[in-house]
Amino acid sequence: MPTHAPPQRDIGMKILIIGATSAIAQETAKLLAQDRTDIFLVGRSQEKLLALEQDLLVRGARQVHNMAVDLCLLDHHQHLIDTAIDRLNGLDTVLIAHGTLSDQQHCEQSVSKTLQELTTNCLSTISLLTILANYFQQQQYGCLTVISSVAGDRGRQSNYVYGTAKGAVNIFLEGLRNRLTHANVNVVTVKPGFVDTPMTERVKKNLLFADPKTVGKRIYLALQGKKDIVYVPLYWALIMKTIRAIPERIFKTLKL
Ligand SMILES: NC(=O)c1ccc[n+]([C@@H]2O[C@H](COP(=O)([O-])OP(=O)(O)OC[C@H]3O[C@@H](n4cnc5c(N)ncnc54)[C@H](OP(=O)(O)O)[C@@H]3O)[C@@H](O)[C@H]2O)c1
Repeated sequence: MPTHAPPQRDIGMKILIIGATSAIAQETAKLLAQDRTDIFLVGRSQEKLLALEQDLLVRGARQVHNMAVDLCLLDHHQHLIDTAIDRLNGLDTVLIAHGTLSDQQHCEQSVSKTLQELTTNCLSTISLLTILANYFQQQQYGCLTVISSVAGDRGRQSNYVYGTAKGAVNIFLEGLRNRLTHANVNVVTVKPGFVDTPMTERVKKNLLFADPKTVGKRIYLALQGKKDIVYVPLYWALIMKTIRAIPERIFKTLKL
C-alpha cells in the first residue's frame, strides 16, 4: 500500500499583509521580500500600494499583488481574502497592521466617531480574523499576526477609545490562540509602544519612541517564531507590568 506523506508546510512563503501601507508593515514587508516570498498587499490607497509593490519586487519578492479597499467595509472581507488565496495559490502567513490613532476628545463628544474608531481598530480586525481562522483551521497550519498596542493593556483617560479597541482585539486573539493551537496555527499579538510613524506625527516625541524599522524587524522575526505576545521594544513588557500592577483606586486618580 502506498503511504501518503502529509502536505509540506511552507510557512512564510505566501503572505497576506492587511494595512500594508502602514509605516511599520512596510518595514516588515521589505524584509519578507528579501526571502523571495509571494506577497498580497491590502490597503486603501492604490497609489501607495503600487509604489510598495514595485519596491518589494526590486528587493527580491517573487511575486506581489495588491488590492485597494477600505477595511471598514466589512462585507468586502471575504472577497479580499478569497482573492488573496487565489492569487497566491494558497496562504500561510497573515499580518494585520491597519489602524488609526483615535482622537479621544472628539470621540468623547460623538457616538458616531467612537463607533467609527471601534470599527477601524477592532471590528474590522475581528471580521478578518474570523474568516482567516476558519481557513487556517481547515488547512491545519498557518500564522496569524496582528499589530495591537500596549494601549490595550489598561484604560487611560487620554486614549481609552483606541485602548478599548486594542484591548478587545487582544482578548479575541487570546481566544483564537487557545482554539487554534491544536490546529498548528500560530497566533501572535504584537504590542508596540510609541512608534515614530505617520500615525503619531502630531504626538510630541520622547525617549520611549521607537523607529518603525526596529519594530518592523521584530515583527518579521515574530512571524517566523513561536511567540504568543510580543512587546516591542521589549522594555514595554516591564512598563506595562508595572502599570497593570497599580491598584485601581490609585490608578483612577492619576492623570494618564
Ligand atoms: N505608531 C505607533 O505609535 C503605534 C503604537 C502601537 C501600535 N500601533 C499600531 O501599529 C499599526 C500600524 O500603524 P503605524 O504606526 O504603522 O501607522 P501608519 O503608518 O499611520 O499606518 C496605519 C495604516 O492603516 C491604514 N488604514 C487606516 N484605516 C484604514 C482603513 N479603513 N482601511 C484600510 N487601511 C486603513 C492606513 O492607510 P493610509 O496609508 O491609506 O492612511 C495606514 O496604511 C496600527 O495597528 C497601529 O494601531 C502603532
